[in-house]
Amino acid sequence: MSGSQGAAGLFVTFEGIDGSGKSTQARMLAADLRAAGHDVVLTREPGGSPGAEDIRRLVLEGDPDRWSAETEILLFTAARRDHLERTIAPALAAGQIVICDRFADSTRMYQGLSRGDLRGLVDQLHGLMIGREPDLTLLIDMDPGTGLARAKGRQGSEERFEDFGQHLQEQMRAGFLALADEFADRIAVIDGTRDMDLVAADVRRTVEARL
Ligand code: ADP
Ligand code: TYD
Repeated sequence: MSGSQGAAGLFVTFEGIDGSGKSTQARMLAADLRAAGHDVVLTREPGGSPGAEDIRRLVLEGDPDRWSAETEILLFTAARRDHLERTIAPALAAGQIVICDRFADSTRMYQGLSRGDLRGLVDQLHGLMIGREPDLTLLIDMDPGTGLARAKGRQGSEERFEDFGQHLQEQMRAGFLALADEFADRIAVIDGTRDMDLVAADVRRTVEARL
């Protein structure tokens, strides 16, 4: 897979804790960019290609102890490889803007931090099988109480990670903010607690600066 220099398009990802407004902001950004005449692919992880959507069901449904952390890293990375091969890389090669709701930073956090320090393993596998970072990552930041209350308002069966509760979300928030320092050139922190139109305006400004 080529690095960002080789690709014609722009690869933008959203990251943050559950319920922070990533999906909402990804949809709003896609609509704004399409209205401005850009060719946009809106996608998500885990998922975004038929095979990766199958893996999504394996990782997000069922008992929280269903998989070990190591197995989970392999499953999320397998899903990402399929998504990259079938959806993301072809779109970037065609010059499209790819907007993805979560990507490898989520694995660095959820699998890399939540059950012991497996960040090294996540990065090694990423280097071997993915080898590509987004051009720009919008970290939608907020306090976990607000995020969890919003996420709990949704119905559905994809509760494996939300069942981990507020402590995990606290850990993930701190981890994401540390990651934004580590990858300061790529990750922009956006305050997600505000009205969604204000958040969207901030997101749009940040993306436009890279176009
Ligand atoms: P995520 O994808 O990060 O889990 P969502 O975009 O699904 O978050 O948002 C979670 C819930 O919060 C949804 O019901 C959504 O409508 C609502 N929501 C999103 N952004 C805001 C906002 N800025 N203010 C209030 N509610 C919001
Ligand atoms: P998502 O559908 O984005 O949930 P939400 O809208 O609640 O943020 O992602 C589902 C869960 O998958 C989420 O709790 C984070 C987890 N996840 C990982 O643990 N590792 C990963 O690599 C990815 C992409 C997601």
